Amino acid sequence: MSPSHIFLIGPMGAGKTAVGRRLARSLSQPFVDMDMAIQERTGVDISFIFEKEGEAGFRKREARMLRDLAGGEPAIIATGGGIIELDENLELLKEFGSAVFLDASVEWQYQRTRNGLHRPLLDNPDPEAILHSLYARRRQRYAACAAITVSTDARHVSDVTDEVLRRLESMEAGE
Ligand code: S3P
Repeated sequence: MSPSHIFLIGPMGAGKTAVGRRLARSLSQPFVDMDMAIQERTGVDISFIFEKEGEAGFRKREARMLRDLAGGEPAIIATGGGIIELDENLELLKEFGSAVFLDASVEWQYQRTRNGLHRPLLDNPDPEAILHSLYARRRQRYAACAAITVSTDARHVSDVTDEVLRRLESMEAGE
């Protein structure tokens, strides 16, 4: 059987890394943050990859990392917000585990990303407008490959994690 991972998907600022880390602790499973794994593999940060290779170059590295992780030991994997951009990634998310869509309104995405400097797509005079257009384009794609969807608006990491755990248990019990 294929290894079964839990993939956290959703927009920037949805809380994928924070929830993923906590989920991994609760389930005693390894945690991988894909952006961090790409940074470790390349030795440079995500912004540098975007600068040198453009978004297309980053997407290739991201797809390669997803393929590698999908075939590895079961883990809780926090993906980057653009993982659903490539159809080949959607196939892997479905085949190698369960995708949990952490959904957040653009207002909350913006609140949670506004002070960060590490997201090249938001390095723009109007990051909120970028978040709006990305969300409009990507939302259906997140929903289409998700086994469960949990809203993170105005919620603590612990609360969201508890809901994800409950929903995964019900799913496994076939409810
Ligand atoms: C991106 C999201 C980022 C990172 C990159 C591109 C996107 O990850 O992969 O900056 O296209 O939405 P987070 O969702 O973890 O911020």
